Amino acid sequence: MIVLGIESSCDDTGAAVLRDGHELANVVASQEAVHGPFGGVVPELAARNHVLHVVPVIERALEQAGVGLVDVDGIAATRGPGLVGCLLVGLCTAKALARRRGVPFVGVNHIEGHLLSIALDTDVARPFLGVVVSGGHSALYWARADGGYTMLGQTRDDAAGEAFDKAAKLLDLGYPGGRAIEEVARGGDAHALRLPRPRVKGAALDMSFSGLKTALWQGVSASPGMPLADVAASFQRAVVETLAETTRRAIGVTGAARVVVTGGVSANGALRDAMARVAHEEGAVLLVPPLRRCTDNAAMIAYAGWLRLRRGESDPLSLNAVAELPLGPRLAPGEACV
Ligand code: KG4
Ligand code: ZN
Repeated sequence: MIVLGIESSCDDTGAAVLRDGHELANVVASQEAVHGPFGGVVPELAARNHVLHVVPVIERALEQAGVGLVDVDGIAATRGPGLVGCLLVGLCTAKALARRRGVPFVGVNHIEGHLLSIALDTDVARPFLGVVVSGGHSALYWARADGGYTMLGQTRDDAAGEAFDKAAKLLDLGYPGGRAIEEVARGGDAHALRLPRPRVKGAALDMSFSGLKTALWQGVSASPGMPLADVAASFQRAVVETLAETTRRAIGVTGAARVVVTGGVSANGALRDAMARVAHEEGAVLLVPPLRRCTDNAAMIAYAGWLRLRRGESDPLSLNAVAELPLGPRLAPGEACV
């Protein structure tokens, strides 16, 4: 079965082609240069750029895969969560192509795509604990044995990547900020600046990152002359420790034997090291997809779509894009993870 996948939830336009769940092509057009001067994604500009890129990106993916549109057996596109104007571009394109070709269409939850990105390279048995850390999301999921998902906890405010981006803006390091902070932090003293480790009362698996940037600003103002490397390393340590310790608690709650960490922030070396340490200490195996699959891409969307299409499932062409799209229910107090 040949599946075409389309991703346009934020600022990357992606198209991928899979044959029976194996990647034939995975093309991403990045808009970093468009949004860089603004220090963050401008939704209106992102949507307009998706309109420009979506058809050429699909054409390139088909060409790289060595197949034509006539060979495609099903089409998957991200339907949410994300920026609605952006989602609509990929979703409408997918629906139009599916209608014209007379093949089934499925709308995919972007977060499920991230969680399944590991499966393109590695056989990962369910259940597993999935940690999604990107510019738009920071959440932990229990990928259940029955194929569904239970949300264990999430950030109450900024996502981890958003925190990196805002800190980088504050420190004049450009956008996107995560990579810049990691580079500047090399060789810095991660204990130089005292920053809080915010916890959410009564919700051990929820996180909060928005207070960190205020604390960073106050800390920097109160410590003139502190080397930028020390500031960046201290900030990175605060975010990384928050994510790693929340993951440790989640392993405790779920008894997970496998932990999957994905999303753009999982590119961070300090986070990878901390997650590997925590998983090892808690007796779990850590699985991190290759970097090109951690960041937004369409292969992960095509894969999640393929799992449904091969079961004969499809969505009606009336399916709409949605900004908020929960992936499964939240874990109820006292509920067991199976
Ligand atoms: O998954 P992604 O490409 O797009 C979203 O779905 O958001 O993630 C982008 C985010 C940005 O916030 C970026 O600053 C962050 O991932 N990021 C990093 C690193 N590389 C990218 N954060 C920390 N360290 C990195 N090396
Ligand atoms: Zn994403």
